[in-house]
Amino acid sequence: MKAIEIRNKYLNFFKNHGHAVIPSAPLIPENDPSVLFTTAGMQPLVPYLLGEKHPAGNRLTDYQKCVRTNDIEEVGDNRHLTYFEMLGNWSLGDYFKEESIQMSYDFLTQELQIPAEKISVTCFAGDEDCPKDEVTAKCWEKVGIPKERIYYFGKDDNWWIAGEEGPCGPDTEMFYDTGKPKCSPECNPSCGCGKYVEIWNNVFMEYFKSKDGKYTKLSQHNVDTGLGLERMTMLLQGKETPFETELFAPIMDKLEELQKVDNIASRRIVAEHLRSSMMIICDGGRPSNIDRGYILRRLIRRMIRHMNKLQISLDELSTLIDINVGNLKEMYPALEENKETIKNVILEEKNKFVKTLEKGEKEFSKEIENVKKQGKTIIDGKMVFRLYDTYGFPPEVTEELASENGMKIDKEEFKKLFKEHQEKSRAGAEQKFKGGLAGAGEMETKYHTATHLLNAALKQVLGAHVHQRGSNITAERMRFDFSHPAKMTDEEKQKTEELVNKWISEAVPVEHFEMKKEEAIRQGAEAMFIEKYGDIVSVYKIGDISIELCGGPHVQNTSELGHFKIKKEEASSSGVRRIKAILE
Ligand code: ALA
Repeated sequence: MKAIEIRNKYLNFFKNHGHAVIPSAPLIPENDPSVLFTTAGMQPLVPYLLGEKHPAGNRLTDYQKCVRTNDIEEVGDNRHLTYFEMLGNWSLGDYFKEESIQMSYDFLTQELQIPAEKISVTCFAGDEDCPKDEVTAKCWEKVGIPKERIYYFGKDDNWWIAGEEGPCGPDTEMFYDTGKPKCSPECNPSCGCGKYVEIWNNVFMEYFKSKDGKYTKLSQHNVDTGLGLERMTMLLQGKETPFETELFAPIMDKLEELQKVDNIASRRIVAEHLRSSMMIICDGGRPSNIDRGYILRRLIRRMIRHMNKLQISLDELSTLIDINVGNLKEMYPALEENKETIKNVILEEKNKFVKTLEKGEKEFSKEIENVKKQGKTIIDGKMVFRLYDTYGFPPEVTEELASENGMKIDKEEFKKLFKEHQEKSRAGAEQKFKGGLAGAGEMETKYHTATHLLNAALKQVLGAHVHQRGSNITAERMRFDFSHPAKMTDEEKQKTEELVNKWISEAVPVEHFEMKKEEAIRQGAEAMFIEKYGDIVSVYKIGDISIELCGGPHVQNTSELGHFKIKKEEASSSGVRRIKAILE
């Protein structure tokens, strides 16, 4: 069965069981600056898991694009992926354990035709926060899983939460027995030997964990499930790795044809990072030196390094992108629509990296000689940071170069330096942002409010991917930088201007609130650097038009602004545009 058939079967099955099929949220979370990428199907649904009514009802299903980057360095082995698709179904205060388990069992055994004897399950063993989940085990017995294939484990295995804080609960996981022999008499689903492969996770979300580690009961019980599509495809096709399925086969074959040096790990890295980068770019991500952009930069640069290792000309990148678009467009039509942007972004990043790669590798060789002379085998963090800062070497690239020379890098020291650097550049950007406002006079205050209106107008005209990247204000003009991949057309500029002027003419009051950061995020407040703010934040709200975390100052009513006019729209940096505008 092909991946897309599994996806369609899943959505149809849950649709037939009363679930509304909702669209995948973008990989780049819209209202949640606290995470870099969407990492699970439940993430865009948090407000509804906490009790808000979902417009589509209380039974939902979807396929969710996900990126998880904790394991970038592991990609290249036979299973790790940074991008994957999660099939999910949710009960928001509706059905609970029994129905959820019955549906999962029926889907696996009837729709996917997995023999029941290949399924083992695990349940929560219980601790001081939550009792042993015997109810779940009973439900499994009822559908026909014998006791000896029902296992109990603690929080490490059978408790699910996204991050440190949020809705959570005990889960039950389903495992597929590959038929390989047990690695030891104790071998069970929690063993990593490869006999048992996890295929589905149903979380019974009844609790909320706060930052201080306390658990409270939620107002409603929820079910949140996740089934990894790539893994299921691999198992149903009897393959050993997702790279052998149709999702990767065309690109893997092409790499094999093009390579002059054989290396399976490198081929997997190129294939995986290319798909992941393409999906991120398609959803508006752009390479940069910070946060999400930095992850994307790392993925692209690591891919290029491995193309070099395979001795595949970088001119082939364009062909590889074409192959992936052709292969994946049925599942992700947006790839085809954004093909040119995807190519431009990847090729531009390649050009940047190629320029410095050679110099950096020379610099690295010199350093290696020095380290060797000193009889050491560890490259210090300062050097790793210098290669990053001056030559754009992601640390894992340096690490790989090091290990090719039988050496290690001091990652901890690098991480420390990198963090300091990020904090400095953030503080710098904030300073720049505030700089224009120091001693804000009447005009500066007006311009400041105008940036909020402009930000909101650009989102309406260009799309939700628009976010502020910086601003600079004087008494004479405003400058506003924002994420957007292309030059604005005259029509777009005109629409933006008209929208801002319409809001000015509507005389909308500008309101100021102090609220909890979580509440501001929940209300969808825009913020450039959410992590820089404390728990209580200052929020400015302009009617239904705009809500932003901001220190002010602002005018009291949009009618004070006069007439807004865009003077210029130009590129600022890769994926970032700049508007210069005045108030007349
Ligand atoms: N949210 C759960 C997971 O990601 C289903 O495994």
